[in-house]
Amino acid sequence: MTTKQQLLTLLKNGDVISGVTLAQKLNLSRNAIWKTIAALKEEGFVITATKQGYQLQQQPLTLNAHSIKEAFPNQTVFVYDAIDSTNTQAKKYADQLTTDFAIFVSDYQSNGRGRYNRTFFSPKGSGLYLSILYPAKSLTDYIHLITPLAAVALHQAITELTGKIPGIKWVNDLFLDGKKISGILTEAITNVEIGQIQYLVIGIGVNVQQPEKLPQELIDIVGYISDVPINVNTLAITIINRVITALQQLPNIDFLNDYRNHSIVLGKTVTVQNRATDSTFIAKALDITNSGHLIVEKLDGTIEQLFYGEVSVKI
Ligand code: BTN
Repeated sequence: MTTKQQLLTLLKNGDVISGVTLAQKLNLSRNAIWKTIAALKEEGFVITATKQGYQLQQQPLTLNAHSIKEAFPNQTVFVYDAIDSTNTQAKKYADQLTTDFAIFVSDYQSNGRGRYNRTFFSPKGSGLYLSILYPAKSLTDYIHLITPLAAVALHQAITELTGKIPGIKWVNDLFLDGKKISGILTEAITNVEIGQIQYLVIGIGVNVQQPEKLPQELIDIVGYISDVPINVNTLAITIINRVITALQQLPNIDFLNDYRNHSIVLGKTVTVQNRATDSTFIAKALDITNSGHLIVEKLDGTIEQLFYGEVSVKI
C-alpha cells in the first residue's frame, strides 16, 4: 500500500486524527504527513485541518485509485490516468492473473478500441473506460451472453446513479436521447493448443459528461449520461460489482428480461449489416433468444437468427 492509501485508510471513517498520531501510526515525520495530505488535496480529496487534527470530508468525484482499490481489496486493480486501451492491458496481463479477476480502469485512452477495429473516442476527464479480466472456465457455455449481461449491468448502474433509463441496442450499445452513451467490447483469450477460451476481457466505455471537444463527425452521434458531475469511482464500482454478480449467478439468465424490456430494436424495422459479405438487408426485429441472438423477419417473410453483427435502427 502506498503512503497515500495508508493515510486514507486511517482517515476513512471520518475520524479527526492528529498529525502526531498519523505520523506515529505510519512511521513517518509530521512533515511527510503534511506533504501527503497536500498531495491528496491536489487529487480532489477534501481534508480539513484543525487544532485537533485532520479529517476526511469528501472523496473526489474524478477517477481515483484509492477508491477503486478499497472496493476490491482481494482483487488485482490497475488505475491509470492515461493508457492505450484498458482491454489491451487486460489481455497482456492474462497470464499473470492470480486473483479471481482483475480490473483495469482509466481516465483516458489513447487507443480506445471498439468492435470491428473501430476507434472508441476516449477523451480525458469526461469518460470512464474499464476492463474486467475474468477466467472463462465457468463461462464457456455462455460466451454469447456475456455482452448482453454486461449491457444490463451497465444499464442498471447508470439508472441507479443518474435516474436515467437508457435504451439497449443489440448487441452492445446503450443510447440516451437518441445518442450513444456507452459501448462494450468483449474479447476472448484463447489457448490455441487446447482450443479453449481461457479468459474473457469485458471492456466498457461510458461517456459520463460532455467532453470539452468532440470531433465534428461525432457531434450528432455521441451523448453522455449526466449534465452534472457524478462520482466516476462510484459508477465504476457499481458497474463492476453488477457485472461480477451477474457472471457468478450464471446459469441464471433473468437479466435477459431487462435486456429485452429496454431494447430499442425489438418490434422495429432495422438495417442488418453483414460484415462477412459486406452487405445489408432490411428486417423486422422480433425477439432475442435465451442465447442472446436476435431473431429477425426479412421482407420476404423468412426468419433469420443473428448470432453476432450489427443492426441500425432509426431512433
Ligand atoms: C463499441 O462501441 O464498439 C465498443 C466500445 C468499447 C470501449 C471500451 S472502453 C474500455 C475498453 N477498452 C477499449 O479499448 N475498449 C473498451
